[in-house]
Amino acid sequence: MASEILDGRKLSSEIEEEIRLKVEKIKKEGGKTPHLAAILVGTDGPSQTYVENKVKACHRVGFESTLLRFSESISQSRLIKEVTRINEDDDIDGLIVQLPLPDHISEEIATETISPLKDVDGFTNQNYGQIIREHHGLLPATPNGVMEMIKRYGIETKGKHAVIVGHSRLVGAPLGLLLSHEGMATVTQCHEFTEDLAKYTRQADILCVAVGKPGLITGDMVKDGVVVIDIGISRVEDPSKKRGFRLSGDVEFDSVSKKASYITPVPGGVGPMTIASLLMNTLKASKLRNASQ
Ligand code: GUN
Repeated sequence: MASEILDGRKLSSEIEEEIRLKVEKIKKEGGKTPHLAAILVGTDGPSQTYVENKVKACHRVGFESTLLRFSESISQSRLIKEVTRINEDDDIDGLIVQLPLPDHISEEIATETISPLKDVDGFTNQNYGQIIREHHGLLPATPNGVMEMIKRYGIETKGKHAVIVGHSRLVGAPLGLLLSHEGMATVTQCHEFTEDLAKYTRQADILCVAVGKPGLITGDMVKDGVVVIDIGISRVEDPSKKRGFRLSGDVEFDSVSKKASYITPVPGGVGPMTIASLLMNTLKASKLRNASQ
């Protein structure tokens, strides 16, 4: 079976165009331009690329953006002060603190300090707790990007068996909640230590993998017709590449794509959808804040 590629780049540019038109209209009507602030600590290569891509996306849709860079040695209390200052800055609608943070800073404390109204990554406990509310807050960006992709490709989730490999607080766990509550799927939550993982992955109608282990899922571990969403992204040494590495997902694309009905590539699958989701959240945060002022 030839699988169809779930093209995150194409879909995210469609979503960006929709957002760009909405922002144009807001500006024409004299409304406030949505404004995203990003905090980047240290000089980690992938984090710098991710944050720069987020700032570029803001520019494309007409948002304002502010990138605040701090050295690796910033103290936790100073970082918390910065987050608090941005929480109180009326011009800023959304704030992300790029992870990972250096070991001497608690990611939980730093992200939990973000005002839930500006938490466009959907990391705070309040937004997490509201995932299964009818009137939810800001949904976690990556899981919501996956849901948006599934919806826009017209993939049925109701009554289907969704198997998630990965139980992280930021991706695997909230994706399970969204698929079961919004998607009305039957969800099995596995992780990298699940015994006999293939026993579960072979039952999946929809298989979502978010572990960060290249090649974890191979063709013999899936059934024909499965929808595969690969959320893993790792750098793998590759001397044939100019940069010395290539990006790899958790799924062995060549063998799995022979059996899948739909599959995401890495890169170009879920990654761009996370950014699209961040933009959707920033627009929503801006609308909600400015409607209530
Ligand atoms: N680090 C890796 N992915 C993410 C993300 O989606 N948001 C933030 N803030 N940091 C990350």
